[in-house]
Amino acid sequence: MTATLITGICELSTCDPSQGDGSPLGIVRDAAVVVAGERVVWVGEALAAPATDDCIDLGGKAVVPGFVDSHTHLVFAGDRAAEFDARMGGEPYTGGGISTTVAATRAASREELRAHTRSLVAEMRTLGTTTVEIKSGYGLTVADEARILEVAREFTDETTFLGAHVVPAEYADDRAAYVDLVCGEMLRACAPRAHWIDVFCDTGAFDEAETRRVLSAGVAMGLGVRLHGNQLEHGPGVRLAVEFSAASVDHCTHLTDDDVAALAASDVVATLLPGSDFSTRAPYANGRRLLDAGVTVAIATDCNPGSSYVTSMPLCIALAVRETGLTPAEALYAATRGGAKALRRDDVGHLAVGAYADFAVLDAPSHLHLAYRPGSALVAQSWRRGTRT
Ligand code: NIG
Ligand code: FE
Repeated sequence: MTATLITGICELSTCDPSQGDGSPLGIVRDAAVVVAGERVVWVGEALAAPATDDCIDLGGKAVVPGFVDSHTHLVFAGDRAAEFDARMGGEPYTGGGISTTVAATRAASREELRAHTRSLVAEMRTLGTTTVEIKSGYGLTVADEARILEVAREFTDETTFLGAHVVPAEYADDRAAYVDLVCGEMLRACAPRAHWIDVFCDTGAFDEAETRRVLSAGVAMGLGVRLHGNQLEHGPGVRLAVEFSAASVDHCTHLTDDDVAALAASDVVATLLPGSDFSTRAPYANGRRLLDAGVTVAIATDCNPGSSYVTSMPLCIALAVRETGLTPAEALYAATRGGAKALRRDDVGHLAVGAYADFAVLDAPSHLHLAYRPGSALVAQSWRRGTRT
């Protein structure tokens, strides 16, 4: 197998504290990485690098692990720019616009959904994202949810069944029947196409008893648990995530001290979605409070046409630093290793021997520039599985 030396890295953030300067980012200066096939086979100071078949000299750029975007809703049709416009004029976000996207998604052909998802994934790649989770949730019929997951599976193994996104209009008078459908026929059709189950557990979506039913049914079918919780108001989301040993509870905007303590005592990752807080003009989640309590924090885009039409992890890093109280180093870790932990993955989100060779080359001398230069096109190269994409 051909080994390629990638050198000329002025600052390598490995996100592995056992390497480099021993900080959580495990920074190695004047570094090199050797890639063979899809994996990293050597990491260290360039002066100590082994001889290889090929060599690429980056000429003095910062390198960070590819971003792990652990929360998206990428398979959809249409946009809701008018809803965004109304919000910026003072209207609140309620999730009520989800039905608009459900109608557009049901009406779209599979090829239209595939082409749109492909363009969003491609956009994410150019912005340094190398692992992406994709949820269903804009179909809300057995066939439409299964179709969304089939499209999502063409782009990632990290697929999530979110039939419990909202109750669709046709079940407005019989919520229990919709929950029965989600836990029964819809789950049976979707579980083979999904790795995870998720519920939008919040005001106007699903309550505690409904969420418990759906998660229990998903667990019984072998799915891992993740949860939308505590976005719009305080609710039972975090408590249920801990009870179900979820991999992650996402949004976490409205938390009590008990919620924070419960997360800190658990393995549940708190995933912050600052693009959503930005685009809904909501208060930002308090990342500082979570980290200070010892909670593992991830950052993701929540890319969807309603609450966060955001594909950029660098933007989310900048927002997490400016608005949620994370340092630039904490935000980079949350966007890489934190995202990997939120997906229970140890092969992505860091750069060490054995990990996938997924990384972003920054047109900058340091990872600090991700937050320091918000909006700039800093990702010069995106590498995934040992190949420049
Ligand atoms: O994560 N909160 C629920 N679901 C999405 C928004 C969906 C939409 O508005 O279309 C979210 O923010
Ligand atoms: Fe979401």
